[in-house]
Amino acid sequence: MPKLIETRDLVTNFYTYEGVVKALNKVGLVIERGTTFGLVGESGCGKSVTARSMMRVVQEPGRIEGGQVLFYPGEDGQEAVELLSQSEAYMQSLRGDQISMIFQEPNAALNPIMTIGDQVAESFLFHRKKEMCAKVLEDLKTADLPWPGLKKLLEFFYRRAAADPGDRLCCWASRTPILKRWQQRLFREARRRSVEIIAALDIANADQVVDRYPHNLSGGMKQRILIAMALACEPLLLIADEATSNLDVTIQAQILDLLRKLKKKSISSILLITHDLGVVAETCDRVGVMYAGSVCEVARVGELFRNPLHPYTRALLDAVPKFSVSGQLKSVEGNVPNLVDPPSGCRFHPRCPLRRKICAQRLPELALAGPDHLVACHLAGGRSGSAQVWGGR
Ligand SMILES: Nc1ncnc2c1ncn2[C@@H]1O[C@H](COP(=O)(O)OP(=O)(O)O)[C@@H](O)[C@H]1O
Ligand code: SF4
Ligand SMILES: [Mg+2]
Repeated sequence: MPKLIETRDLVTNFYTYEGVVKALNKVGLVIERGTTFGLVGESGCGKSVTARSMMRVVQEPGRIEGGQVLFYPGEDGQEAVELLSQSEAYMQSLRGDQISMIFQEPNAALNPIMTIGDQVAESFLFHRKKEMCAKVLEDLKTADLPWPGLKKLLEFFYRRAAADPGDRLCCWASRTPILKRWQQRLFREARRRSVEIIAALDIANADQVVDRYPHNLSGGMKQRILIAMALACEPLLLIADEATSNLDVTIQAQILDLLRKLKKKSISSILLITHDLGVVAETCDRVGVMYAGSVCEVARVGELFRNPLHPYTRALLDAVPKFSVSGQLKSVEGNVPNLVDPPSGCRFHPRCPLRRKICAQRLPELALAGPDHLVACHLAGGRSGSAQVWGGR
């Protein structure tokens, strides 16, 4: 599969009063076109910061201080755009259009004083203005208007806006009393599209839902609306950061099912961030395991569950009854370290039952340990070593 997005040696730090939080330590990931990539790990391992760094929306006091984020918009995955070196204007045009993100907490992402319809329509108005103006122009040809001059005037504005969505005259007219009414048909088109996308997400009475406010909707509905907003422009990559974690199991299953269906229809790839291995097993094609700011293992889902190589992955699986590799249910002992002063060498070494002297001295690199299976562990790296260390699993 061609690549869609890739991070190389991504380093993000937070400058806090307690010191520098070294949140991402050379994170390297590849997400292929048409696939769902799961990112798992305990809370505080850097999953959200990785996603935010990819979109360049790291919160204060965070700074991306190294590495590359390569985005491959072409279908062949050949030509890359390095996102960290692009202008903020470029990133704004990319976000919500080619890369979209849905967060865990819908209440924080939705504006309480705007109707659902207006919030979904914003996406279309920001990214699809040109296309919508062209559609209005087409409709105007057959429109029956009260006086002929009005048609000419509207065509004048829509033609200019279709040629350049940031046209100064149109912007000026949009702020001027009476003249600003030229946009009515554009708003109507954005609303029509909003109803259409909300209905496509299996929400009944979409034409009424658009007039409601977030507080009128249930948690599951709000999460669907966020998905609608994220999908408005049919992005190449949808990042879902713990998007179903706050929902009850039935709604969670419905939303995941919806994402699966949508992936087939309108999104190319999904980066699914979750701490739920069951969700990963059911939804993802490939999975990356993160620990304390580093990626420690990446493999196809079946391979990772059958043949986990990194001690941390094995510990995570052992903590879930259905996936336990040792046959015993155990919690992962110890805690994620404070990233102001992370452990030397392999950041997992204070918790690792298999640690050796070298583990505290040298950071293990992510290395190929099998076909499409990468692992960062001094003992599990290399094609032959892994099977011996884990007793040929
Ligand atoms: N705004 C922030 N200020 C300071 N530290 C932060 C901030 N956001 C994240 N971090 C730190 O970055 C690390 C990774 O966090 P995060 O990516 O949110 O973890 P995850 O999503 O895996 O639970 C954590 O150690 C966290 O303390
Ligand atoms: S490198 Fe060493 S400490 Fe780290 S996971 Fe491997 S064995 Fe454990
Ligand atoms: Mg998170």
